[in-house]
Amino acid sequence: PAAKPLAGRHILITSGPTHEPIDPVRYIANRSSGKQGHAIAAAAAAAGARVTLVSGPVTLADPAGVTTIHVETASAMLAAVERALPADAAIMAAAVADWRVAREGTEKIKKDGSGLPPALALVENPDILATVGQLGPARPKLVVGFAAETENLIANAQAKLARKGADWIVANDVSPETGVMGGNANTVRIVSKDGVEDWPLMDKAEVARRLIERIAAHFAP
Ligand code: C5P
Repeated sequence: PAAKPLAGRHILITSGPTHEPIDPVRYIANRSSGKQGHAIAAAAAAAGARVTLVSGPVTLADPAGVTTIHVETASAMLAAVERALPADAAIMAAAVADWRVAREGTEKIKKDGSGLPPALALVENPDILATVGQLGPARPKLVVGFAAETENLIANAQAKLARKGADWIVANDVSPETGVMGGNANTVRIVSKDGVEDWPLMDKAEVARRLIERIAAHFAP
């Protein structure tokens, strides 16, 4: 196999959580370290691809040899992804917050003394994977999503594949007892229209390398 099997390819990756501000000091977020998405970006660069990584707030360093764009919110992540297109493949590994508050407070919300909490009206965020998966001519040839589930892993991943227009879903069980969240290891299954591939437990860097290997094979002449 070629040392740089993805030379000449542009791979677009999202990673990390998004933060959706409630007011200047508070936000809504998903739990996500960004470790898996950042590892995929590094592996894609090592395979010779030009890599754009759109990252939410993480404590990780920007991977070497990767163009990293830092964003905070889902809306900003979608805008950055759209600006980064066209791409040969899009790998959407970010844990995007499903909702943001309808009206972000310009001042810190104070307890009003009534003992009643403030009502936060939420609105749904754009689905970045679904947007990219359902693009017309600008759709990347290969669109890969993730499905972190705590139950009905395969059924949920298959539903996501169809609903979001993805080619592959990397499904993982993130039940608390698995230690996947924030940890270094992952057990994933690759769900596509061709079926389900079970991968053994491995660290996130190895998941990234194998995923990039599979993508390179997909693009191989
Ligand atoms: O629906 P769910 O959030 O479980 O789907 C996970 C997949 O969809 C991941 O690939 C994630 O990056 C992507 N996603 C997204 N934008 C959203 C929600 C999820 O890109 N608003």
